[in-house]
Amino acid sequence: MEFSIKSGSPEKQRVACVVVGVYEPRRLTAAAQVIDQASGGYLSEILRRGDMDGRLGSTLLLHHVPQVLGERVLLVGLGKEREFREKQYRDAVRAAVKTLDKTGATDAALYLTEAGVRRHDEAWCVEQAVLVAMEAQYRFEQLKTRHEYEPRRPLRKLILAVSKRGLLAAGEAAAARGQAIAAGMKLAKDLGNLPGNVCTPSYLADQARALAKEHGLTVQVLDRPEIEKLGMGAFLSVAKGSDEPPKFIILQHKGGGKKDKPVVLVGKGITFDSGGISLKPGADMDEMKYDMSGAAAVLGALKAAAMLNLPLNVVGLIPTCENLPSGRANKPGDIVTSMSGQTIEILNTDAEGRLILCDALTYAERYEPAAVVDIATLTGACVIALGHVATGVMANNDALARELIHAGETAYDRCWQLPLWDDYQEQLKSNFADMANIGGRPAGTITAACFLSRFAKKYDWAHLDIAGTAWKSGKEKGSTGRPVPLLVHFLTARAEKGT
Ligand code: BES
Ligand code: MN
Ligand code: ZN
Repeated sequence: MEFSIKSGSPEKQRVACVVVGVYEPRRLTAAAQVIDQASGGYLSEILRRGDMDGRLGSTLLLHHVPQVLGERVLLVGLGKEREFREKQYRDAVRAAVKTLDKTGATDAALYLTEAGVRRHDEAWCVEQAVLVAMEAQYRFEQLKTRHEYEPRRPLRKLILAVSKRGLLAAGEAAAARGQAIAAGMKLAKDLGNLPGNVCTPSYLADQARALAKEHGLTVQVLDRPEIEKLGMGAFLSVAKGSDEPPKFIILQHKGGGKKDKPVVLVGKGITFDSGGISLKPGADMDEMKYDMSGAAAVLGALKAAAMLNLPLNVVGLIPTCENLPSGRANKPGDIVTSMSGQTIEILNTDAEGRLILCDALTYAERYEPAAVVDIATLTGACVIALGHVATGVMANNDALARELIHAGETAYDRCWQLPLWDDYQEQLKSNFADMANIGGRPAGTITAACFLSRFAKKYDWAHLDIAGTAWKSGKEKGSTGRPVPLLVHFLTARAEKGT
């Protein structure tokens, strides 16, 4: 879809459809009032007849509205004005795009952007409209021989209105950011939705190479011998249970000065997590193809950073392998030596994410990073704690945690902090090695982060547990593309302040 920004009166737009909002009960927004006046009360008459009451997400398509240059006017219900917040705005835009996809209109001018969402400016509304529109049109049909949901005349051009000419530049920047985030999310979703037999570690490495080529990023892929040479004993212990060769992907966006310290993003790239010898139950095990969503988010964020030419150095590190049971797989009780030299007793082979991440965190030291953020579908406990709404954030530096929380709020891709107090570290005690890889059931999300913190002592570090937010289960099963929006806002803010 193409997007453009415009300021101008709604009745004067020569488009296939003009989209304006109606609050409940039957109250026209400013843009709707302008059309109402131009058309001699046409809209108020319709409201009076009771055909549109403004309920959130309801729509009414009108043709030939008098004195309006657009061929159609689409009224969209916004719900009660007092309750109109981020979610309601997004729901209304989604309803508009889905309705337009079913009509013959292929271009439209959206005036919901002017409605005003509390604590956000019109630029925010523009960015979110781009994201919601792209999301509404997302389909994953690469592996279907018949395209089931293809609309015959989908919306192709969306004009986003801002209320003043002075807002055009900010609106255009917001649309560009929205498009970059949407492209990053699409990449992350496609990779997440691909099954484990297609999206293997080698496939992720090929995707990283393709991304580098397309956007001028630097890429390096380490194979098993090089990973062995680095001494990544924890990572390799997980990889050896599978016949698929592991890869360690290094992607760099060099947008900053040569001497500027980079932000390092580390993504968990388990392309399928069966649990290993500590095998998972069979129900819904297919969902463990999403266990590379952290890796996918890193690729998506780097794509967006490149598209936006962010003046910032960003390094993406992706350890990727499968976690399978086999004659060569880790066994409960096995002890491995990590790249840091610390030894780990593997009490549960299903706690494999931390084993591959810990070596990547040690590898990150060589960049003398400004900050390191790892992104991982790490614990089922995080889904229980925060559900599918908030990503869990834990950090060894509270200012960094606050930055991520703020980025999540502006991106509408929110995270919530859990404490990383030393008191939790005790749960990782092992009788036989420096630490165990599990800390029991209590506070499972925190003890997983405690484990990682032992490998992140040399820099400011935060951990995002995306187990609940990276994908949806149930009827609309699929990858969400989160937390690409959060990461892009975090990187953008860093670029603005000069790391
Ligand atoms: N990939 C899973 C975490 C996960 C579970 C994500 C369910 C989404 C939904 C991770 O590798 C894992 O298996 N974690 C274990 C840790 C436990 C053994 C300490 C878990 O959460 O059960
Ligand atoms: Mn696991
Ligand atoms: Zn896992």
